[in-house]
Amino acid sequence: MSVVPTPVLTANWGQERSWKLKKYLAGGGFKAAKKALGLSPEEVMGIVKDSGLRGRGGAGFPTGVKWSFVPQDNPNPKYLVVNADESEPGTCKDMPLLLASPHTLLEGIVISSYAIHCHTAFVYVRGEVAHVARRLQGAVAELYEAGWLGKDIQGSGFDLDIIVHSGAGAYICGEETALLDSLEGRRGQPRLRPPFPAVAGLYASPTVINNVESIATVPSILRNGAEWFQSMGTEKSKGFTIYSLSGHVANPGQYEAPLGTTFAELLELAGGIRAGHELKFFTPGGSSTPILTPADVDLPLDYEGMVGAGTMLGTKALQVFDETTSIVRTTLRWSEFYKHESCGKCTPCREGTWWLVQLLKKLEAGQGQEGDVDKLLAVCDDINGLSFCALAGGAVACVTSAVKHFRPEFELGYTTPAWEAYPYERSALFAGGAK
Ligand SMILES: Cc1cc2nc3c(=O)[nH]c(=O)nc-3n(C[C@H](O)[C@H](O)[C@H](O)COP(=O)(O)O)c2cc1C
Ligand code: SF4
Repeated sequence: MSVVPTPVLTANWGQERSWKLKKYLAGGGFKAAKKALGLSPEEVMGIVKDSGLRGRGGAGFPTGVKWSFVPQDNPNPKYLVVNADESEPGTCKDMPLLLASPHTLLEGIVISSYAIHCHTAFVYVRGEVAHVARRLQGAVAELYEAGWLGKDIQGSGFDLDIIVHSGAGAYICGEETALLDSLEGRRGQPRLRPPFPAVAGLYASPTVINNVESIATVPSILRNGAEWFQSMGTEKSKGFTIYSLSGHVANPGQYEAPLGTTFAELLELAGGIRAGHELKFFTPGGSSTPILTPADVDLPLDYEGMVGAGTMLGTKALQVFDETTSIVRTTLRWSEFYKHESCGKCTPCREGTWWLVQLLKKLEAGQGQEGDVDKLLAVCDDINGLSFCALAGGAVACVTSAVKHFRPEFELGYTTPAWEAYPYERSALFAGGAK
């Protein structure tokens, strides 16, 4: 079965200078914000709740419900913080969106802030992407000039400032409470909950934290209605989303389609596995989500479908690997990432990720010893559930799922280097040059 792409968030990406306000307005931009400002904040929140929109940052929590947790009788200011840290390996949807159409997010921020009675919103941008932060800042400046930010927006009586804040480049700062610490100028490490951010978040005030894609989806819901959004997707996973396909596919990129689309359908859109090769394994939602194999290509890529398959939808980042790939090497690369990004707050994660890397390096070099694969799983047991935040669960999931599906290949590491079993390709970048 072929899937019909649903370009909403990505609809204007191909247009020349699509990031300029003039272009965005010409395509109907800010009509949704105008409509929202004519309704009460509670009505706006109701529409988003009714739509069934669930957070696109990984956990899939219903967005409108999260907004309703903000206690409006709390005298402190209310804050909206948009999570643009996007650092999960394979995840590449928020940055392209911000580069191609920053005003889609900014219009979403105006509407969402209005719904939760927020007058100062923040966008926390991953540190490495200075060009994305610059583009956002340019777009914010355009909105102040056009009267879509600042005091008394478009004569509505609603005031809103947006602050674009660059992080320093740490994966853990995507975890919402570490993000808040970092935004407050502290070292980014996760906070103990409760209190939850909705009650005591940024500067101990009620705070909503949402992913870029979640907030960028809000204008389309206001424009077209909750029923329109609900008409797409599956029973509990409504609407459309951006799937990112990377790795060994003919045409890697972002593909916007209804939730519940299968990997086989996405592969069709992306031109299939690169010529002459076949699928070996893939991640459904970034490296933190347990891997899947060719047996799973017809499963619906939605929140429930992925949980049913023992994994998670995550960020919908489909990293695709063909038969030339060493699973041991891939798992080692992922583990090196988690070891590097562990914030060090708790011992099981800080020490355990280090041990995973040591064991996987031995297996990659063909220098493993009988029992090392069980030792690898034992270290995972010592990390899982005993660590402070969800980074540790992701660090473990890629290892345990890889061993589950490809144990003999890990055991081959007792005798044979991975680069002999699966000769590594030198990328075109290094071919004929690098020493
Ligand atoms: C280690 C770690 C990294 C995360 N990185 C991101 C990120 O880059 N962007 C994001 O939106 N959510 C990230 N999250 C999830 C956030 O904590 C949070 O659930 C999300 O921003 C909520 O937004 P949503 O409800 O719109 O999905 C991360 C979580 C963890 C544990
Ligand atoms: S689990 Fe890892 S990243 Fe999370 S708080 Fe502990 S050390 Fe830090």
